Amino acid sequence: METQKIKLADKSDIPVGGGREFTVADRIVAVFEQDGNYFALDGICPHAGGPIGSGELKGTIVTCPWHGWQFDVCTGQHCLTPNIRQETFPVSVEGDDIYIELPTGS
Ligand code: FES
Repeated sequence: METQKIKLADKSDIPVGGGREFTVADRIVAVFEQDGNYFALDGICPHAGGPIGSGELKGTIVTCPWHGWQFDVCTGQHCLTPNIRQETFPVSVEGDDIYIELPTGS
C-alpha cells in the first residue's frame, strides 16, 4: 500500500502520557505518547464516532470518553472484542518533529 509521510506535530504538542487529536489529510488521527514512544490510530471511535484522541490513557490503553470502549494504542486492538481493531499508522520521530505515514488516497 502506498503511503505518504506527513509532519504531524512537534513533540511538545502531545501531552506526556496522554493524547491529542489532529486533522490530517482529511482524516481524524489520535496520537498518544507513552514512555517516550508515540502511537497513532484512527481517531474516530468505531462505536459511535467518539473522539479517541480525547480519551484518558493508562499505560497503552485509551478509553473513549463517550461510552468507555478501550483500545490498545500500540495495536488498535479493542480490549474486549477480538474482531474490532482500530486502524493504526506508523509514527516516526526526527528531532522534535513527529511524522505519520498515512495510506495515500485516504
Ligand atoms: S463512541 Fe466511543 S465508546 Fe461509544
